[in-house]
Amino acid sequence: AVKLQPDMELVGVADVVSDYRVQAGAMLDLPIYASLPEKIEGMEAAGIPIKGTLDDLLNQVDAVVDCTPKGIGAKNLERYLAAGVKALYQGGEKHSLTGHSFVAQANYETALGRDATRIVSCNTTSTVRTLLALYNAGLLKKARGVLIRRATDPWESDHSGIMNTVIPEPHIPSHQGPDAQTVVPDLDIVTIAAKASHTQTHNHYWVVEMTRGASCDEVLDAFRAAPRIAFVRMQDGIVALNSTIELMKDLGRPRGDMWEVALWEDVLTVQGNELFYTYQVFNEAIVTPEK
Ligand SMILES: NC(=O)c1ccc[n+]([C@@H]2O[C@H](COP(=O)([O-])OP(=O)(O)OC[C@H]3O[C@@H](n4cnc5c(N)ncnc54)[C@H](O)[C@@H]3O)[C@@H](O)[C@H]2O)c1
Repeated sequence: AVKLQPDMELVGVADVVSDYRVQAGAMLDLPIYASLPEKIEGMEAAGIPIKGTLDDLLNQVDAVVDCTPKGIGAKNLERYLAAGVKALYQGGEKHSLTGHSFVAQANYETALGRDATRIVSCNTTSTVRTLLALYNAGLLKKARGVLIRRATDPWESDHSGIMNTVIPEPHIPSHQGPDAQTVVPDLDIVTIAAKASHTQTHNHYWVVEMTRGASCDEVLDAFRAAPRIAFVRMQDGIVALNSTIELMKDLGRPRGDMWEVALWEDVLTVQGNELFYTYQVFNEAIVTPEK
């Protein structure tokens, strides 16, 4: 995503492992750095040309996107700030780490000038994106959502993951509702979540109390006015999560990514002032901020 931005340069990528993912980066001529100096030897032994340490990289950049596992990024913040480098975090870190959580179309302005922000998770991004569309159209009173999450990242399917069961999250609200309120504090929202045994993408079901009765077309127009909500239809054969995955590959999307929320247009239903809809969330590109 950084390489696609005309106003950005990807100066380097730092990691601590030397597996096929980092090797692929080296094959694509990405400058590779070692996040920890003690990892240089092992990474070089695996044939990865190492340009230097994370500190060497920080000396050359204006901003860093920290995608490290939960908790590691938090430890790095002081280091980034000391080097005068702005930092972007992800949903695995706490809101309190940066004091600002970010969804591009919701609060771009309040991110300006900050040293660090946290781009919320895929599920929270989709929640804010859709509910804000209703809010901006004056239709949103309160929202209650059920999230069926994928079991694990596809690339980690061999490490862990659940099979032939569904695991309810032990707490209501699940973290996505309060997380959405870190971006839009006014949202009246409760989320319930469960993990299912598939590995690709998430699926949400929403029941929304609107401020008044509205037609399906008016609601769809509110969603159409928001960036990066795409409509899919059962009648076109998009009948399940796997259909959209095939469609993205057929369209030649890089890595089969879908960066829009895929909302089922012909499932959405209104009864009086109650609105019901379901959508699909690809867990990777969805959070990449739009220009
Ligand atoms: N994967 C998702 O879809 C997703 C979605 C939203 C938020 N997140 C959050 O993003 C973070 C990363 O998730 P992930 O699934 O990509 O994790 P991951 O375990 O795949 O790790 C990400 C990368 O960090 C590297 N790494 C590990 N230890 C490191 C260290 N000490 N220093 C530097 N790099 C190190 C790993 O080798 C890997 O390349 C987590 O906090 C997660 O909660 C992930």
